Amino acid sequence: MTSKYPDKITVGNPPRPFRKFLQEDEIQRAVLKTADEIHERYRSKNPVFVGVLTGCFMYMADIVRATNLPCTVDFIKLSSYRDGMESGRIKLIKDIDIEIKDRHVILVDDIVDTGNSWDFLRGYLMVRQPASMSMAACFRKPKSIQAGIAVDFISIDLPDEFVVGYGLDYAGAGRHLPDLYVLDEPINS
Ligand code: IMP
Ligand code: MG
Repeated sequence: MTSKYPDKITVGNPPRPFRKFLQEDEIQRAVLKTADEIHERYRSKNPVFVGVLTGCFMYMADIVRATNLPCTVDFIKLSSYRDGMESGRIKLIKDIDIEIKDRHVILVDDIVDTGNSWDFLRGYLMVRQPASMSMAACFRKPKSIQAGIAVDFISIDLPDEFVVGYGLDYAGAGRHLPDLYVLDEPINS
């Protein structure tokens, strides 16, 4: 599949250069594989998908459709990345609306970087006594593996680079891109 977006783009204001790293069809193939794994593990369990806003929105829509199971969908929102690439303290901005006691919960996030968000959310939601809790993330960076963070479903492992597209942003921009782009200059320049 050829993409409607060029290999090199600028994103954000002030603009930063990004280069294409993964095509839409490569991402979609990996997402379908993860959806099959989730389907196998949760068939007849009527799970609750809890998407972590905002970055999850594309992956969540693709995963929930492709998993093809009766389910409940809800969202939660944290702020951890402030405007750009700096990681900040985790704060809850929006809670889920539904009762998850005795339900099988699958947290869905765009990317696991340090794993701090996942750690926080697991602790935050486990108090409500779900029947089980797992996490699916579209992308994973190496820091979380080094820190020993276990994520149940990962679609694609990435190098330790800053990325945008497929829901992920740089300072609020770039979420609409169907392909994944990587920053094409040193992060602190
Ligand atoms: P963690 O708590 O360090 O695992 O960070 C997770 C959150 O940081 C993700 O849900 C993203 O919203 C954001 N994040 C981490 N790495 C990137 C990136 O390369 N691009 C855009 N957002 C990122
Ligand atoms: Mg996020």
